[in-house]
Amino acid sequence: MEASVLFISLLSLFLLADCTELTFQETMLLRALGLNRRPQPASPRPVPHSLWAIFEKGINADNPCRMESFQVPGNIVRSYSDQGPFISNEESHDSLCVRKHLFFDLSVIEEKEEVTFGQLEIKFKHNTYHGHGFQLRIYRPLHMTLKAMRNHHTNRKLLFAHSFRLLHKSLHFNLTKVTQDWTNLENNMGLILEISADGEDTDIQKFSSCHQMPSFIHTSLLTVSLDPTNCKASRTKRNAEPSPPTPSNICSKRRLYIDFKDVGWQNWVIAPRGYMANYCHGECPYPLTEMLKGTNHAVLQTLVHSIEPETTPLPCCAPTKLSPISMLYYDNNDNVVLRHYEDMVVDECGCK
Ligand SMILES: *[C@@H]1O[C@H](CO)[C@@H](O)[C@H](O)[C@H]1NC(C)=O
Repeated sequence: MEASVLFISLLSLFLLADCTELTFQETMLLRALGLNRRPQPASPRPVPHSLWAIFEKGINADNPCRMESFQVPGNIVRSYSDQGPFISNEESHDSLCVRKHLFFDLSVIEEKEEVTFGQLEIKFKHNTYHGHGFQLRIYRPLHMTLKAMRNHHTNRKLLFAHSFRLLHKSLHFNLTKVTQDWTNLENNMGLILEISADGEDTDIQKFSSCHQMPSFIHTSLLTVSLDPTNCKASRTKRNAEPSPPTPSNICSKRRLYIDFKDVGWQNWVIAPRGYMANYCHGECPYPLTEMLKGTNHAVLQTLVHSIEPETTPLPCCAPTKLSPISMLYYDNNDNVVLRHYEDMVVDECGCK
């Protein structure tokens, strides 16, 4: 059975299961979604605008393994909060406003995933810095020892330098290569962010905005990656004609709405709240008609069944066309994740 068809079967079982079976069913379900346990977001952070935008734009059913918004292959987008501390600067020179270690825990990226995009976002909560220019520099430390951290001038490489004035919107930096390197966790020593005030003027306003700056900065990292195990190389297209009504005991698609609240997932699944998953049910009688979309093999099997009913069962009523959905959720590290899952919705059923 395909993993995704398994998912729908598990989900229906999970909805019907009594409490004793629940844990096992749920574990299997979560595994199908790429999680090892049910996420319990402690302090869920707001969903980044960019992830909402991708979710709302919907999924390209013909190519669920491409993230059009970033023009790269991928079916997973994650947004990580920065976990690095501010670094006090001992030999502080007057113009330095902020020195901060940026660290993003990429351990959730699985080995089978290929990172295709990485972007650092620096957001300023207020636009109170008007009037003064600032210099922003991002360095990559080459050795992460305490000594090297203090001795920050020698053991680091400058990645970006950017000057700005009024800032209301976000600054974005391309970290694709760096994040690819960080998937080898030993290489992930984070980054050093420094913001200093421009020029020599020393007016009071500059210093006050400079000193408030640490609490105004919010940094996050976004990655796109491709999980090839959830991507079929080519998709067989069929015309989605509405199926004619079938007698109730004959193999057909049945409506099944899965509400994530019913499975107790409303705390960590952000969107959708639920979806129309459907399922296949019914008999595949002899002779198979065109309507039942039987495979050649199924047609032969019903024929043999009509001759030897004891030894050969009838074919099964199973999905013949499925479509993907996007899910937006918090993972076990409180990252916000958007993921395309193939074959989550049964569109058509037939005899196989
Ligand atoms: C980001 O950098 C990578 C190489 O480091 C490059 O291939 C890619 O095109 C860049 N992406 C954007 C959006 O500039």
